[in-house]
Amino acid sequence: MTDNKRSSFTGQIGFVLAAAGSAVGLGNIWRFPYLAAKDNGGLFILLYIILAVTFGFALLTTEIAIGRKTKQSPLTAYGKINKKFKGIGTLATLVPVLILPYYCTIGGWVLKYFVDFATGKGFDAAADGYFTGYITQQIQPIIFMLIFLGITAFIIYCGVNKGIEKLSKILMPILLVLILGISIYSLTLNYTDEAGITRTGLDGLKIYLVPDFKNITLKTFFVTLMDAMGQLFFSISVSMGIMIAYGSYVGDKTNLMKSIKQIEIFDTIVALLAGLMIVPAVFVFMGKDGMSAGPGLMFVSLPKVFSNMGTAGNVIGFAFFLMVIFAAITSSISVMEAIVSSIMDRYGFSRKKSATIVLLYTIVVGIIVCLGYNVFYFEITLPNGSVAQILDILDYISNNIFMPLVALLTCVLIGWVAKPKTVIEEATKNGEKFSRKGTYIAMVKFIIPALILILLFQAVGLLKL
Ligand code: PHE
Repeated sequence: MTDNKRSSFTGQIGFVLAAAGSAVGLGNIWRFPYLAAKDNGGLFILLYIILAVTFGFALLTTEIAIGRKTKQSPLTAYGKINKKFKGIGTLATLVPVLILPYYCTIGGWVLKYFVDFATGKGFDAAADGYFTGYITQQIQPIIFMLIFLGITAFIIYCGVNKGIEKLSKILMPILLVLILGISIYSLTLNYTDEAGITRTGLDGLKIYLVPDFKNITLKTFFVTLMDAMGQLFFSISVSMGIMIAYGSYVGDKTNLMKSIKQIEIFDTIVALLAGLMIVPAVFVFMGKDGMSAGPGLMFVSLPKVFSNMGTAGNVIGFAFFLMVIFAAITSSISVMEAIVSSIMDRYGFSRKKSATIVLLYTIVVGIIVCLGYNVFYFEITLPNGSVAQILDILDYISNNIFMPLVALLTCVLIGWVAKPKTVIEEATKNGEKFSRKGTYIAMVKFIIPALILILLFQAVGLLKL
């Protein structure tokens, strides 16, 4: 690719929009709330916010700066900083390969719910057992997954990402307003169960926000920390080469520091609000037991919230799932593009050929993921305590093993081999202020590597707490 084509973002706004489009997606709306609920709120939220302003900031800055400095794709960018570290590129490219099939599966679930609400059948989805009944079907989930994948692939084939980004400038604020409105409504809910116990939205809010320090053990602390860290990587799209690729498209005049702050803030706000919309409502309708539902959480609890709203609920549900589809598509195109562009760079294939290879692969693995809930059903318990099917295993390997490993190696490269000044100088080359410099250096040199090492040992079961 020529340099000209690389700096293809139209300035600051274009870059922030594209990066935020990649960052804000199912991770924020589907993944964050179910982890927050599983880990009982409070502590998870606290750790996530602390990690976002330290870890998240450091990793995002590092990757975008590496991208802009080297002007290369992740496959070769690490090697350009230091030859010995070339391997990180390959490892980072594997992450989106693992993510894409299951991301499309969940995208398919969202699509199905959207169709339900669009055809006035949204309230059926509020019935107990609807979600499980749906994913255990063999054919429909595959069809919806394929449609979601088809839309993603179509955009990648045509290279029309730019138009999608412009559209997301209008749709993202609408999504935010909807989430905010639904969250406020959730807090007004109350429900009395068969045992005669009444739970309110405000009780749920307390669980969501206030850490319950009394019941924390070392083990739950580490599991929560690991979940929060994996979630952060996934949510800001780091440790998988995507932000390096985006960094390589950024013009030299763009103020990186300011852009990074905007991306970080927007991504975190959407996640926190999505949790606010879902977690208290789960507590109201299903009590503490319902909170460990896992990946299905949003699909189980939101229809109940919408049906509680009465007639308006169908329209709001319709609008909500539509916006989520958009947020998911702007992310899934970045996941697919990461793989496609790596294949193009590595093997010199055309865009069409690379995209076709990725498409075929994703169809096969995507179908296997869908069948994981029926034909290939099994239950295995992961080191973080959740009972997993194929989707969860792919998610766990990518978020809790591969991404931390990529982050660890990147920190060794920047913290010790190339030195933090490589990134700091790149990020401040137009005289910008690097506002969290001390934190940044301490993070990449010591804190991130140390913490990741502990968590990795735990993730692979070597450290038992
Ligand atoms: N960050 C995206 C989200 O929160 C997901 C994603 C993962 C995007 C990996 C790109 C790469 O949904």
